[in-house]
Amino acid sequence: MCSVIGYSGNNLAAPILVKYLKKMEYRGYDSVGISTCHKNSIITKKKVGRIYEVNKKNKLDRLPGNVGIGHTRWATHGSVTDINAHPHASNSGKISIVHNGIIENYMEIKKHLMKSRYKFYSDTDSEVIANLLQYNFEKTSNIKKSMINTIKQLHGKYSFITILDNKLIAVRHHKSLMLGTKDGECFISSDILGIPIEIDDIIYLKDQSFVILGEKRIEMYDFSGEHIRFKTKRIEKKFHKISKLDYKHFTLKEIIEQAKSILQVNKRSIMKLSKLIKNTEKIYIIGSGTSYNAALIAKYLMVRYCKKIVDAIIAEEFTILPNMDEDSAIIAISQSGETADVIDAVDMANKENLNVYAIVNVPTSLLTTKCDCVVKINCGIEIGVAATKSFTSQLATIYLLLEEISNKKLINLASVSKSILMILENKLEVINISKILKNVKNMYVLGNGIHYPIASEGALKLKELSTIHAESMFGGELKHGSLTLIDENAYVIAINPKDSTYDDMKISISEIKSRGAKIVGISNHYNELYDYWIRMPTINEFVFPLIEIIPLQLLAYYLALEKNLDPDHPKNLAKSVTVK
Ligand code: AGP
Repeated sequence: MCSVIGYSGNNLAAPILVKYLKKMEYRGYDSVGISTCHKNSIITKKKVGRIYEVNKKNKLDRLPGNVGIGHTRWATHGSVTDINAHPHASNSGKISIVHNGIIENYMEIKKHLMKSRYKFYSDTDSEVIANLLQYNFEKTSNIKKSMINTIKQLHGKYSFITILDNKLIAVRHHKSLMLGTKDGECFISSDILGIPIEIDDIIYLKDQSFVILGEKRIEMYDFSGEHIRFKTKRIEKKFHKISKLDYKHFTLKEIIEQAKSILQVNKRSIMKLSKLIKNTEKIYIIGSGTSYNAALIAKYLMVRYCKKIVDAIIAEEFTILPNMDEDSAIIAISQSGETADVIDAVDMANKENLNVYAIVNVPTSLLTTKCDCVVKINCGIEIGVAATKSFTSQLATIYLLLEEISNKKLINLASVSKSILMILENKLEVINISKILKNVKNMYVLGNGIHYPIASEGALKLKELSTIHAESMFGGELKHGSLTLIDENAYVIAINPKDSTYDDMKISISEIKSRGAKIVGISNHYNELYDYWIRMPTINEFVFPLIEIIPLQLLAYYLALEKNLDPDHPKNLAKSVTVK
């Protein structure tokens, strides 16, 4: 999703901005741009495309000036064009802004400014910020007052950084923004990776605050203009030390890391959360995308093993239900801890004074500041847009949580880890199947019982990485309508371990086979109905989800390679979806 960055100091801003925008590339974007301030005027370059290519052609990093702002855009308002790319200048050309988030009332502001003869060139909501700032600054000639007046008029959740009157100013309103300083240099960024590793302590801008970076001092204010004292926090360096090593892609590296990363979950915080949950009658687990699939597994297990009322809800669909009261707990699952749908749901729950807990990967994320108890899954930074290792670490956390709540030994993570290694070692089977499936346009992924959320997660990986349309379904559901689409051209992946779901899935597979479709069976047990068999190790039935997702992730990855797609940067997608 959009990244914003700002720099002011003794060095040239442009090469620094380009360098750190590259580090934040994993967030996903469609265009890139920077503005610098040189001899009292602002110079901007911006284009659609990847940072490396845009910079090579347009020499963004050669712009002069010691103050600058930079942006990678993920389009929300207005199509992917050079004009819609950020930064956006005000009509006078004296103000430039980069923005993350959404200005809900931008049309209203635009109309109002147009009456005062302001012109607009882009279709974005962001451009209004630049012109509104100009409008307010021309009235007051005072940075602080014009910022307060502008903020008052903007509705929505956003952060932005602006060059105004040769100074850098950053505003945070419900979107993360952090600041690092060293030897007279200031770095502002929406992501920890936008701050140089040499900086040990950073300042997280408080929500609803803004900061003015003067040559000698940093002034921070709340939205009413009251001065705020800021605190610094020690940076976790491990987030910076990230490299692909010898792997072709981060996605593959992260798939392979899973045998280790599932072992790193934070057991202490799991115990703390289990104590809180033990006293709770009703549990609502929320998440989006992959994290929602983890929530479905959690629901399945908790209903069976904890004897509580449990529901899993897609974060965007979360609403306060009449039976949610002080006996209810919300558990928000999120890799990034920045997903707007999740943050909104948590805000809603907090307003109702419900107990709100989180299972999260990024320890410095917004979500961690909003919850009564936070469990960190600790799988290390995940760069690949498609969630892989964070999913298995979310599941490992859920299993351990369940052990604590039910006082039963349920899982041996060391043996799960060994099984994952075995699957990874046999990846040639999956690679061969990917060669056969590369021209397939549609697929079904079937799973019964606890395997259904894995079928959904597998289908999501196939869509994201290989752009193959994939639909997850319970095996038996196919005959209630979708069977009409099954013929000799169809391919169906069946998750079919030898457990209580096996016989019913076998019946579904027979029905599909009778209509000529090809079956890819993921199982620890051979069945002659499979056209292709992905052999799985045998493991305790109810921890099977933790290992059966691995061949699906591998399949999606190798299909992407077969189709010449870049698995680390799927089209149209962003790593953390910070807008609604
Ligand atoms: C997963 O592969 C996706 N990229 C996406 O569905 C993701 O899981 C979703 O956006 C939620 O993200 P979060 O876990 O960071 O909240």
